[in-house]
Amino acid sequence: MAKYLKFLNGYRMPSVGLGTYGLTGESCKRTVDEALSLGYRHFDTAVSYRNEKDIGETLCLAQKQDRIQREDVFITTKIPSIYLSPEDVKYCVRESLDNLKVTYLDLLLIHNPWGLRNKGDGNFKPVNDEGQLDFVHYDLTETWKSLENLVNSGSVRSIGMSNFSVPQIERILLNCKIKPSNIQLECHAYYQQRKIKQYCDLKSITLSAYGPLGSPDRPEHHRLEKHTVLLDEQVIRHIASDYRKTPAQILLRFLIQNGFAVLPKSQNYNRMKENINLFDFNISAMDMGKIQGLDKGVKYFIFESFKHHPEFLDGEHF
Ligand code: A2P
Repeated sequence: MAKYLKFLNGYRMPSVGLGTYGLTGESCKRTVDEALSLGYRHFDTAVSYRNEKDIGETLCLAQKQDRIQREDVFITTKIPSIYLSPEDVKYCVRESLDNLKVTYLDLLLIHNPWGLRNKGDGNFKPVNDEGQLDFVHYDLTETWKSLENLVNSGSVRSIGMSNFSVPQIERILLNCKIKPSNIQLECHAYYQQRKIKQYCDLKSITLSAYGPLGSPDRPEHHRLEKHTVLLDEQVIRHIASDYRKTPAQILLRFLIQNGFAVLPKSQNYNRMKENINLFDFNISAMDMGKIQGLDKGVKYFIFESFKHHPEFLDGEHF
């Protein structure tokens, strides 16, 4: 099974990446350093995670220690909703390159389709006079052109989007010169994203799954009473015991066999090790079928506060 996903433009991305949402400071540096020792070569960050500097310092140190070279690692970052105007995209990427101490990004994503006002204070959740999120409806095809310019100037290798739905991806495809290489979205056994997967397969766009373990540590505002814990799912537990693997490994391997890249988060050495050791077994077609049967529309990340944004397409983002 592929340890890499190949993009249309020829570049390839390791199928397992370390998700870094929620990691900052010393614990981020320690985690990234341990991940490197365990063989992780794909790191997923975002401007809004406020950890690019920590990741950049750690990767830079590892290069100085001759443990890696720049070409060995794949770095993704994402442009936040406040920086979707063409000028802001340029500014934002300059900062990211600086923070990450690199001359190019492997993958740059638009973090969300819903824009917010840039008030110049770096606040990623600006509010208006009524105390509501300060929405701006950017023309995403214009934002995309700025990403294309960054590819043409050599500071970014591949581009894509996160949390976009099919009609939004289609809009980009119909108006682009450079096609998206990758879409990142919440995906796991309880939320298998079949519609978008089918669409992206047709268009040769790769998909990366965030929250592949059901994100048990997600923030409070993403928690609903009806949410059950994916890692406790009995079907997964039974399969895990049959294969002498952990539930996490079954959940991740399931996605990899379905053609996704996975971005599990962990700050724990042994769990990080589990999460990358996915290539010495194969889930049978029968067990894949059982896991496919778990697709019950449980979405753990809720973007409730964006539901009145014009780019919040009804039924697509819940
Ligand atoms: P920890 O950092 O203590 O390992 P997701 O990637 O779906 O967002 O989930 C991240 C959460 O899952 C974190 O709370 C992380 O906790 C936990 N986690 C990561 N890997 C494993 C694993 N192999 N087994 C159990 N829990 C895990």
